[in-house]
Amino acid sequence: MYVCVCHGISDKVLKKLAHEQGITDIREIRKVTPLGSQCGKCVRTAKEVLQETVSGLVLQQAC
Ligand code: FES
Repeated sequence: MYVCVCHGISDKVLKKLAHEQGITDIREIRKVTPLGSQCGKCVRTAKEVLQETVSGLVLQQAC
């Protein structure tokens, strides 16, 4: 699904950044993508996606 419609950034992109580059902070995401730079409506959803991804990463490491 698209998280940021204005810039065509999907949840897959956010998850890939978290898994491959360890970027799990919204501020860091915004440094490497234009997410939130137009209408800003996506920031809350992006934070939720990142939070879910981080929870998944922690569970993977614990197993
Ligand atoms: S939906 Fe992301 S800036 Fe508009």
